[in-house]
Amino acid sequence: MKVTIIGTGYVGLVTGACLAELGNDVFCLDVDPRKIEILNSGGVPIHEPGLQEIIARNREAGRLQFSTDIPASVAHGEVQFIAVGTPPDEDGSADLQYVVAAARNIGRYATDFKVVVDKSTVPVGTADRVSAAITEELKARKLDVEFSVVSNPEFLKEGAAVEDFMRPDRIVLGSDEDDAGLRAKATMKRLYAPFNRNHERTLYMDVHSAEFTKYAANAMLATRISFMNELANLADRVGADIEQVRQGIGSDPRIGYHFLYAGCGYGGSCFPKDVQALVRTASDYGLPLRILNAVEEVNDHQKEVLIGKVVARLGEDLSDRTFALWGLAFKPNTDDMREAPSRRVIAELIARGARVKVYDPVAMDEARRVIALDFADRPDAHARITFCATQNDTLAGADALVIVTEWKAFRSPNFERVKTELKLPLIFDGRNLYEPEAMRELGIEYHAIGRALHVTV
Ligand SMILES: NC(=O)c1ccc[n+]([C@@H]2O[C@H](COP(=O)([O-])OP(=O)(O)OC[C@H]3O[C@@H](n4cnc5c(N)ncnc54)[C@H](O)[C@@H]3O)[C@@H](O)[C@H]2O)c1
Repeated sequence: MKVTIIGTGYVGLVTGACLAELGNDVFCLDVDPRKIEILNSGGVPIHEPGLQEIIARNREAGRLQFSTDIPASVAHGEVQFIAVGTPPDEDGSADLQYVVAAARNIGRYATDFKVVVDKSTVPVGTADRVSAAITEELKARKLDVEFSVVSNPEFLKEGAAVEDFMRPDRIVLGSDEDDAGLRAKATMKRLYAPFNRNHERTLYMDVHSAEFTKYAANAMLATRISFMNELANLADRVGADIEQVRQGIGSDPRIGYHFLYAGCGYGGSCFPKDVQALVRTASDYGLPLRILNAVEEVNDHQKEVLIGKVVARLGEDLSDRTFALWGLAFKPNTDDMREAPSRRVIAELIARGARVKVYDPVAMDEARRVIALDFADRPDAHARITFCATQNDTLAGADALVIVTEWKAFRSPNFERVKTELKLPLIFDGRNLYEPEAMRELGIEYHAIGRALHVTV
């Protein structure tokens, strides 16, 4: 099938590459010429395991092309996926300007039937706005081209995006029941047939419910994390170990083990903005979402918990201190730095006069870019942040180690080396990677989240 993907970011690029891998003829459009240039010269602008190989294979086979040519992109696909960004607006609502701009382009150039697929995460009612924008452009051209907008939110996880896309737990598809809607639904059914061979994974529903489902899913996951983070802080006070508590409750099948890890807060491009957007939608309808307001507030506070532990141990003035910091990406296996807790931790350390030596297995380039922006008006800060080539390089001359992202490479480091290279045998672990008992045996003072029971002082 001929498919166009509008927006070649984390979601668009993975969707385009995976649909090409299944034999479709895919045209990926982006308005960012830099991205398209990288892709056309064989590079991949993001880090996503397995993606590079799929892109190379399908470009070679002539099934995957990248372009900034808008008229050609509209002409190409009967199916037009909108996978552009929906960042938070100033009031927390989803900024739909990119989605609407993409829709207008379709209306400006379409000459035959189009299935317009909202894959971006968008608030309930957005498909109606997309539809209105396309209709307006078609009217200006005095054309009556048939189209239908369907909602097909994406549930992939960065870091496992290819695997998630290729083996989805479920595909949510919201469509209308009129003739164009039924035609669109049949087209999508054909496109997604390869995913449903073993058993039907597609959940068909109305458009509003599909749009809502994505927010509900992310809101639930964010809630579980904030819930555990809040309990972890209490565990620190009452002298309980949140890791043992996690296993104690996760073993209940009604609860399950997923998304119950306490840490130094969630980040990324989805949870923070999607929770805010849902809260905003609700308040537009005069219905405050009290739980989700708290989820956001708890998360914001949680990003400060690790620095609170540093200050409690070493004092407010950190001007004669240097910290080794492991993990910059908002989670492992990605280079995405959007809303990454590391940025807050670095900012708080720098604000107290510290020096920081940082390392991440894949996010170094992206980290350099965003940290330069974070400290754009503080040139003095740049000299106090060192980007190191390896995790071990961060240790020499540092007082303590701070861990912010749970990359596999950090799970079993050479602790003897960590201990001898650090000035103090001191680890602040924002991801609870190690066993407190093992740290005690190694003679390392270990501060984690919700495990204060075990601190060796
Ligand atoms: N990143 C994730 O893990 C994830 C998961 C599920 C859903 N989503 C949702 O998917 C959407 C996209 O997220 P992302 O992380 O891929 O964003 P991204 O910022 O990585 O990519 C968006 C791309 O769209 C391009 N773009 C903007 N306007 C355009 C236009 N008019 N025409 C063509 N290209 C245009 C941008 O240049 C950019 O390359 C968001 O709504 C997000 O919430 C993201």
